[in-house]
Amino acid sequence: MEAFLKVIVSFCFLLIAGISVSHAQDSRAISFDRNWRFKKDTIYGAERPGFNDTDWRTLNLPHDWSIEDLPDQKEGEVQGPFTKASIGKAATGFTEGGIGWYRKAFTLDKSYIGKKTYLLFDGVYMNADVWINGHHLGNHPYGYTSFSYDLTEFLNPAGKPNVIAVRVDNTGKNSRWYSGSGIYRHVWLLPVNPTHIKLWGNYITTSEVFPDKAVIGITTTIENQKPADVKVDILDPGGRVVASHKERASQSDIIQKLIVNHPKLWDLDKPVLYKARVSLISNNQIVDQTITTFGIRSLVFDPQKGLLLNGQSVKLKGGCIHHDLGPLGAASIDRAEERKVELIKAAGYNALRLSHNPASPALLNACDKLGLLVLDEAFDMWELPKNPQDYHLYFKEWSRRDLASMVLRDRNHPSVMMWSIGNEIYEAPDSSGYVNAKRLADEVRGLDPTRPVTDAIVFLPPYTKKPWTAYESHLANLDIDGYNYFLDPSVYFQRDSTILHSFETERAKHPQKLYMATEYLANAALENWDAAEKYPWFLGGFCWTAMDYIGEAGIGNSIYVPESQKLPKGLMGMGLFYRNNWPVYNAYCGDLDLIGDQKPEAYYKKVVWRHSPIEMLVHRPIPDGQKEVVATWGMPDELKSWTWSGQEGKKIQVDVYTRGKTVKLELNGRIIAEQSVPGGSITATFQIEYQPGTLVAKSFDNGKETGSSTLSTAGSPVGIRLIADRKKIRASLNDLSFIRVEVVDAKGNLVPSVNGLEISFKISGAATIAGVGNGSPADMSSFQQPRKQVYQGKALAIVRPLGAPGTATLTASARGLQSSSVHIEIK
Ligand code: GAL
Repeated sequence: MEAFLKVIVSFCFLLIAGISVSHAQDSRAISFDRNWRFKKDTIYGAERPGFNDTDWRTLNLPHDWSIEDLPDQKEGEVQGPFTKASIGKAATGFTEGGIGWYRKAFTLDKSYIGKKTYLLFDGVYMNADVWINGHHLGNHPYGYTSFSYDLTEFLNPAGKPNVIAVRVDNTGKNSRWYSGSGIYRHVWLLPVNPTHIKLWGNYITTSEVFPDKAVIGITTTIENQKPADVKVDILDPGGRVVASHKERASQSDIIQKLIVNHPKLWDLDKPVLYKARVSLISNNQIVDQTITTFGIRSLVFDPQKGLLLNGQSVKLKGGCIHHDLGPLGAASIDRAEERKVELIKAAGYNALRLSHNPASPALLNACDKLGLLVLDEAFDMWELPKNPQDYHLYFKEWSRRDLASMVLRDRNHPSVMMWSIGNEIYEAPDSSGYVNAKRLADEVRGLDPTRPVTDAIVFLPPYTKKPWTAYESHLANLDIDGYNYFLDPSVYFQRDSTILHSFETERAKHPQKLYMATEYLANAALENWDAAEKYPWFLGGFCWTAMDYIGEAGIGNSIYVPESQKLPKGLMGMGLFYRNNWPVYNAYCGDLDLIGDQKPEAYYKKVVWRHSPIEMLVHRPIPDGQKEVVATWGMPDELKSWTWSGQEGKKIQVDVYTRGKTVKLELNGRIIAEQSVPGGSITATFQIEYQPGTLVAKSFDNGKETGSSTLSTAGSPVGIRLIADRKKIRASLNDLSFIRVEVVDAKGNLVPSVNGLEISFKISGAATIAGVGNGSPADMSSFQQPRKQVYQGKALAIVRPLGAPGTATLTASARGLQSSSVHIEIK
């Protein structure tokens, strides 16, 4: 009987949906992404149901208007989505916000009669006003939190049309990075019976985990509670029920404990996922049911041993990320989020800091699935502004709700290990900072006592005016201290040594506390990792950043200036990279570039983390009369290439990263140089004469070879190679195929010296091009036209199904090169 009822419940919902529901943040939710009308304009009266929107664009969500080409393109002024007139300037990567309207007409069938129907937004940037049939449901200022409205009483009868209108206001200077604009994440309808499990109303904990059994705690919150039973089934990865329990709901919060024997644990190598099916049963009928994915794992932050995941010590090889998806802007398509996590994991990371705001549910799902630990962060500012129109305007009124939105939505994700209440909060050392830190930390603990609370402190005297002691009462509210740039030589060497604090002195004062680097520079990876290896109480850290992002233009982009140019000293030198440096639009900061290829930062870290014994990179020849200024958040301008035509006979710099003691270089079979790696460093730098051929670097320890790295000169470019990350994808708007474009020589080697050559794309069949990109910091061309120049021989095309099954063919061609095609199967 029960099974039959279950079928009825889910069948009804699927009928209404007609669409897969697997990616929803709530298993009951029905995708509401399709067929919206959109117009970017200040429009009066568009909330009225009868408003004529027939001349508006029709589109599907998620949608980010800031990544679209601007009208009136003008070389040097307005290019692609970029404009010099951008209010955010370099901070937001010269993109534009503005005001945009979305409208969606829809009709509900009879199955909705007697239901409660919610409308759920995963995220809208920002300041969303939402109406149904002309009735104002509310305003939601924060651009990164999920929110919902109860539509029930404003819906028209079954069969009669309804209209949702959403006004999005991304005006003013409100962000320090590229935010994107619009309904950039999914929207859902959530129809439930009047008595139902509340949205985010399941809270699953796995506090007792042993090899032979795990105790699963599930609290279920019921809305409009009527006499009912709450039945929990735990399903293993194969879908078998491995534990069940039923409880009479005599109050709105039902707490149940279940035992899973011989649990398969969620860990970083094998992130096994279970499901909790919670059914609300009244008069023998299932009146509601949720299915929540979770992992069985124990997470202990031990003051003496550090972080223990299932009893094993884990050091954080972490990276900070922003939310944008490169050529797709902020439009949070599930596969794009998953690919981002895949690439970061493949680069050797085991943790992410979601700086500085809650991410999409899809990103967290990917971390659960692929095995990464997450530091989930709420805010970049509290009461004091970082920009005049940023979240500080809303903090007092909204921070409690926004924080709850993050914790309640995300607390069942096994990947989430810690909560951060803020980043570099200006008032941290003041009394208001103390009061707010206490309030926010207490609120988090009230909603989830199983995870520690932290925030990211920056202390850079003399730029930080308050003494260290002023931070102490703030830090007393945190379970774990997170410091930005505390161990980074290029930063701390510039501090006044009389006020210099170290993790060691802090830990000596607070032996119960754990410490980590919430941010560190790419060039300080070694110092930060050494501390992690040395001190059990130092958890490791998060570099800024794991992947490049739009905005903070150029902070990681090393530049060349005339040799005679005087450079600002110390930390002021950072200012050099914050200038309005059009046409740079991305930070060019991160181990992966904007299309996901590894940069020098990534190769350096492989050696730091002992994932690779040796990596070799070659510095681009510095133009005569110039010198390089290495960006604070970047690395020297080097790449994995031994193709430097025109440099024959000239000196060229080769950097070899290794933990070996000595390095030998071999060019075309002949040893040409040998060096000891300087103590305290992992870098051997050579100046050698360039000759084409094969360059091999070998590392040695006590005469024994520990590793080698080879670079070969490529021939002339003859053709294009297309490599799809997946050739079979689903017929879903949430799937994508990422197609890497490479310029190759006759032997099929990538030719990394090709820059600026334009590739034209054509697509036919059941898909479209969702975006094109390259890794360059300074290519302001469109992400949406079917063409892109290669940078270092590479570019990317992103293919998205139109919705129906079929095949699609992408063809890439360029002047003088053999073109290439790739076929994608769409099922
Ligand atoms: C940090 C800040 C980050 C980013 C970075 C690079 O201080 O927390 O959000 O701005 O600097 O500029």
